[in-house]
Amino acid sequence: MKSDLQHIALIMDGNGRWARKRGLTRIKGHTAAEKSIHDAVEVCDELGIKYLTLYAFSTENWSRPKAEVSFIMKLISRFIKTNINDMDKKNVKLRVTGRLNDLPEGPRRELQQAMERTSSNTGVNMILALSYGGRAEIRDAFVRIAENVKSGLLNPEDISEVMISDFMYNSDVPDPDVIIRTSGEQRLSNFLLWQSAYTEFVFTPVLWPDFHAEQLKQALSEFKSRKRRFGGLK
Ligand code: FPP
Repeated sequence: MKSDLQHIALIMDGNGRWARKRGLTRIKGHTAAEKSIHDAVEVCDELGIKYLTLYAFSTENWSRPKAEVSFIMKLISRFIKTNINDMDKKNVKLRVTGRLNDLPEGPRRELQQAMERTSSNTGVNMILALSYGGRAEIRDAFVRIAENVKSGLLNPEDISEVMISDFMYNSDVPDPDVIIRTSGEQRLSNFLLWQSAYTEFVFTPVLWPDFHAEQLKQALSEFKSRKRRFGGLK
């Protein structure tokens, strides 16, 4: 059954705890995360949800131990390499949000090539948030707006909320209807701060590597039971 949802965003949390529970190293938890990513794309495809944003690496995650950061970067490269054919066949359009230039050359190049290759696909937009921070995104928008004011292209009085949205990284993407966070933590952690003004939040105790199609559908059915009023009365 098709859904009227346009955009779901996922905070993929709990990989480390999933691994620890099994006596494995943290990085094994990140490896195990791949199946859940596949499932999320499948569910969006099945339900006709056009935009899927996955919080894969935050601006704060750079402060993790060097070995873990380097492993995640390699995992991203490998993920793209091994899945690009399949993604393309499934009509998935790969995109990123965040400061892509912060990434090492390897994953950056893989991502850029994959984005080019899938740029005219019309299925699910799979948006990887990489070196992403909500405050960094708002700060970057501020800088660009200030430059436009400085050069006389923009009057401060003309700056509207819609215009600010237009200066965000992916301004064509609608605000997320729902943000789902796994692993029991109940916070936004600098994710999509500007875009989540009227977003519903679903928190689940399930750890990300255990969050498969069935768990995602369950979270979406919880979202569906909510009444969204956007500040109005109905
Ligand atoms: C959160 O779990 C996970 C991360 C910060 C990294 C997410 C990375 C991936 C899912 C893999 C790479 C992405 C792709 C696209 C292949 P955590 O480590 O914070 O878990 P914990 O809170 O239990 O320690």
